[in-house]
Amino acid sequence: MTRTGTADLWHHYGRTRHATDRAMPSDFHWSWGQNSGPRAELLGDLTDRRVGDLGTGAARHAAHLAVHHHPASIVAIDASPAQHAIASDLYGHLAPRLHLALCDVPAHLRASSDTYDVLYSVFGAVDFTEPRELLPAAVRALRPGGRLVFSTLAHHLGGTPAHPDVQHTEIGAKTPDGAAALMRRWVLQEHVWTKLLDEAGFTRITTEVLPGGPGPRAADTLLVTAFRTDDERAV
Ligand SMILES: C[S@@+](CC[C@H](N)C(=O)[O-])C[C@H]1O[C@@H](n2cnc3c(N)ncnc32)[C@H](O)[C@@H]1O
Repeated sequence: MTRTGTADLWHHYGRTRHATDRAMPSDFHWSWGQNSGPRAELLGDLTDRRVGDLGTGAARHAAHLAVHHHPASIVAIDASPAQHAIASDLYGHLAPRLHLALCDVPAHLRASSDTYDVLYSVFGAVDFTEPRELLPAAVRALRPGGRLVFSTLAHHLGGTPAHPDVQHTEIGAKTPDGAAALMRRWVLQEHVWTKLLDEAGFTRITTEVLPGGPGPRAADTLLVTAFRTDDERAV
């Protein structure tokens, strides 16, 4: 079994949908089911704002924002060559307002100090990256007063509770040639995310649980919003 190595463990993700659904998403959802709950209003007015999508996948959320919310730019970041290729095929024509960046999120954020008004992640890089690496980089990549919003699992798929401390879970994945592999996912309780964000330098941290409803594939969503302080000297 591969631990992570260099194999693209997101090679298979969203491939069926890519073959059948080329539509421009007409809406933006945070929830696991992608069909209910708050929408893009949590990001604030994006007009002329600089926005970053952390772990964008096929970039469907970023494409929706680029077309319907008039940002100055959206950088849709993903480290998976396969996901980047799918996003480029579907939404490459939205450049330059939508820029699809193939790179690791913490590295990109560290190279982007005081750049973004809004950063967000929909079950994206925040879920799959060591939070003590990603969150301090995110707060510094925001401009003073900027915000981070992310949706993440409120519990493990299948119902096991989220971790009460900063601990990752090894989840099953597949290499491009179908071999079994493992990747890390951080499924943490609300108070753990709040503490991590506070330690990273975020302020005005709020959380909300969106119920997933019935069904074996349903999951509750934890929705988190946090701000970089307006005080430029604070981070
Ligand atoms: C579950 S998918 C979600 C994709 C998209 N946000 C959506 O809602 O469809 C997670 C994505 O995060 C990306 N990702 C995870 N960790 C990352 C990191 N450190 N840097 C860049 N991308 C990352 C993966 O490559 C994958 O495409």
